[in-house]
Amino acid sequence: MTIRKALIPAAGLGTRLFPASKSVKKEMFPIIGQDGIARPLIHYNVLEALSIGCEEIGIVIQPRDESIFRSFFDELPEDLHERYAKDERNASIETELTALSRKIVYIHQPEQQGFGHAVYCARDWIGDGSFLLMLGDHLFKSANSKTCARQLAEVFQKFQGSVSGVQQTPVHMLKYFGTLTGEPIDVTKHIYKVTHICEKPSAEYARAHLNVPGLPADQYLCFFGMHIFTSKIFDMLEYQISRKMRERGEYQLTSAQERLRSLDGQYYAVEIQGERFDIGIPSEFKRTIARFGEPI
Ligand code: UTP
Repeated sequence: MTIRKALIPAAGLGTRLFPASKSVKKEMFPIIGQDGIARPLIHYNVLEALSIGCEEIGIVIQPRDESIFRSFFDELPEDLHERYAKDERNASIETELTALSRKIVYIHQPEQQGFGHAVYCARDWIGDGSFLLMLGDHLFKSANSKTCARQLAEVFQKFQGSVSGVQQTPVHMLKYFGTLTGEPIDVTKHIYKVTHICEKPSAEYARAHLNVPGLPADQYLCFFGMHIFTSKIFDMLEYQISRKMRERGEYQLTSAQERLRSLDGQYYAVEIQGERFDIGIPSEFKRTIARFGEPI
């Protein structure tokens, strides 16, 4: 099964980054890459999706933000084109962006009802296939020659079931992340068959229920911010949404993942060799600025 589509939810409010997020979407925050080029976050994530051969990339947005994203990906107006693209480097980036814009589809989330709801908004667009899901406010840096998405896709190809990228995370960070546990099925490649998933567990809950064989004490497997799902995930989201099963006022994806795992039985996780940056948290954004452009 090939992964033809990638989905990037970018419709959140970013209240933790207020007041910057009043006028700049967090997915558009600029970050300098290892090549010294200033790109908005969304550009890196679109490139990550292309690294596994995705042909179409759906970006979930607030309807009022469409012009913001379009003004970045769409071709420059002629007068500005002349001024920016005088420089050879800029000209080639602009050509690349124009090619990318043809692969991008904008999906509207009219009301901000949570990450799970944002994913559900793409149900019709995704259809029956499997897809790569990336958090729009995360950045991913691989520690080897395979991109993080490629590492994930290889596990999906092998096991043909939904798979989440995970990273070992210390207990004091669990308040920020979805966390899972499972049975190691390939110790050298750090692949697990997942047996339980929950959102932002307390330290007590994690110590009682989420220990993973082989991990150091007080280290847990937390989401890396990218997953590959079969389209069954939409049935799980529909179950929650039709019953108005909100958590903290929103529809969360993690509960749908846990339901998918328990009903489907085929749910895998792989420790990604690389680093994730969650720029939606101010302290992590600070770290991202310092670290993302440096060699890993
Ligand atoms: P977050 O969980 O960080 O939520 O979103 P948020 O609302 O953007 O940020 P805070 O909590 O107010 O600071 C994770 C990803 O899901 C998207 C966000 O844009 C981000 O990329 N998202 C979240 C949506 O697309 N729609 C939503 O309703 C919520």
